Amino acid sequence: MTKSTHTSQETERQAPRLRISNLHVSFANRAHRWLQRNASRIHAVHGVDLSLQPGACLGLVGESGCGKSTLARAIMGLVPLDRGTVALDGSDVQCTNSRSSRQRIQMIFQHAHASMNPRMTVESIVTDPLRFDDRCRKSERTQRVAGALQLAGFDEQLRGRYPHELSGGQLQRVAIARALVLEPDVVICDEPVSALDVSAQAEILAQLKDIQQTRSLTMIFITHDLDIAAAICDRLAVMYLGRIVESGPTAEILRHPKHPYTHYLSTARNLERTGGLAQLEGEPPSPTAPPAGCAFHPRCPIRTDQCIAQTPSLASTGQPSSQHQVACHHSDRIVELQKITTTD
Ligand SMILES: Nc1ncnc2c1ncn2[C@@H]1O[C@H](COP(=O)(O)OP(=O)(O)OP(=O)(O)O)[C@@H](O)[C@H]1O
Ligand SMILES: [Mg+2]
Repeated sequence: MTKSTHTSQETERQAPRLRISNLHVSFANRAHRWLQRNASRIHAVHGVDLSLQPGACLGLVGESGCGKSTLARAIMGLVPLDRGTVALDGSDVQCTNSRSSRQRIQMIFQHAHASMNPRMTVESIVTDPLRFDDRCRKSERTQRVAGALQLAGFDEQLRGRYPHELSGGQLQRVAIARALVLEPDVVICDEPVSALDVSAQAEILAQLKDIQQTRSLTMIFITHDLDIAAAICDRLAVMYLGRIVESGPTAEILRHPKHPYTHYLSTARNLERTGGLAQLEGEPPSPTAPPAGCAFHPRCPIRTDQCIAQTPSLASTGQPSSQHQVACHHSDRIVELQKITTTD
């Protein structure tokens, strides 16, 4: 179960492992179902483009309800797309209709406990995905399951236990083993440590980072915690109301955010360490009726009429790293926010 590692220069030259283009996902609004006609829709993901080189770890951050899990489920093919494509090594995953290309992308779900059948033992939970793997003979399954459990740091002696007999950290390791048993190339981790205490979080994060690096896995890591993203992701994509509003190298984004929303997240992170609180004006807007123009404008302290009239598209910031992109009409005025941000 070992794969070669890549240097960052090598990966730059390679074609993307995963490319997501113009992805749109919406849901019928159940609250309006009885209206039949003119029923509004929840636009959970709106025109998302992302590209990941082999071995890259991208952090997807944003507040609750901004569409992170929906984007992950759309990449996995678990929700229908309104528009857009998901390509793995250049092939559209939907068109290839091949089970093996689907198997190459796996997910660690947000709620580990809810994603497991309570009547199945650890061994059967981790073995289950192999039933669909044509390449794995029955005789090899025990060995593959043992390898995946070991990789996830799960004590093999406990493989006969049921989910309710495990701690949060142990459950998360089972979820990791289940995602790895198919030997995927891409793993999407959806808030894998948010339900754990701090010490279990640190252990699981270290294990995931180790697996990602030694196996050169391409990873999307969803979190609302910028400290976690900073510790394990080489790139960040910041999501707001279904759209990516800023993306680029993690250190550069955290040091020099260019979008007012990222500036707020970064300030909140720094203030939390000293017991302070950053305040963001207003409530998050509804995805059923997104604001016109820039979706962030009702909460943005530097908005102008242009922000209300025009939706900004993601464009290069012209920073030393050409990979840094932002969707803001006024990213050059970000310095003004340092004076505006309030503290308690
Ligand atoms: N199956 C569904 N049917 C209807 N609406 C949905 C469905 N799944 C998600 N949504 C809506 O889509 C939007 C995005 O939800 P999503 O779960 O992707 O957010 P999230 O960023 O993962 O939030 P969190 O950080 O709380 O996990 C929300 O408004 C949510 O209510
Ligand atoms: Mg979620």
